[in-house]
Amino acid sequence: MLKDSQKVFLTGFMGVGKSTIARHLAKILKCPRLDLDARIEKQHGQPVSELILGLGVDRYRDVESDALALLLDEPTPAIVALGGGAFTIERNRKMIKEKGHTSVWLESTFEHCWMNIQRSKKVRPLAKDRETTRRLFDERMVSYCLAEWHFLIKPEYSSYDIAKQIAEEVFCLE
Ligand code: S3P
Repeated sequence: MLKDSQKVFLTGFMGVGKSTIARHLAKILKCPRLDLDARIEKQHGQPVSELILGLGVDRYRDVESDALALLLDEPTPAIVALGGGAFTIERNRKMIKEKGHTSVWLESTFEHCWMNIQRSKKVRPLAKDRETTRRLFDERMVSYCLAEWHFLIKPEYSSYDIAKQIAEEVFCLE
């Protein structure tokens, strides 16, 4: 379904469901699924949360960009779940766009993301409390909306429904 080394990057706020939707979409499109955070953890032998706390956010963003550059060089097609901050960095958006890959913004309400963040076991140092997380959510909209595609996740949709919708609209898969 995906051509040559074409990659589809899923972006959106923490807790929106990027990884789960990526899993469904990869199954529907019969192609590999990658997760940028998992890649970084494998390369550095440390959880992303510890890298952020140890290096600071700015240096972590460099680590993230380097991992993205490596992933972009791979000659295989894939559905890629980005970490929630990756697409807010201009050089990352540029790399994705210049190489002709597809970017998809998964949008949901702050309440939905916050609920998932609280329920999740994933440690997210940048989502410590509701107020700072809400501020980050608002700040990031200007970056996420630069993605090529946009899907609004309503509470009644399942992750599979969204993946199916992406497959139908982006890849004309019936
Ligand atoms: C981050 C999101 C996280 C992870 C890191 C930073 C962010 O990924 O990359 O904690 O800046 O939004 P998820 O979006 O999968 O939670």
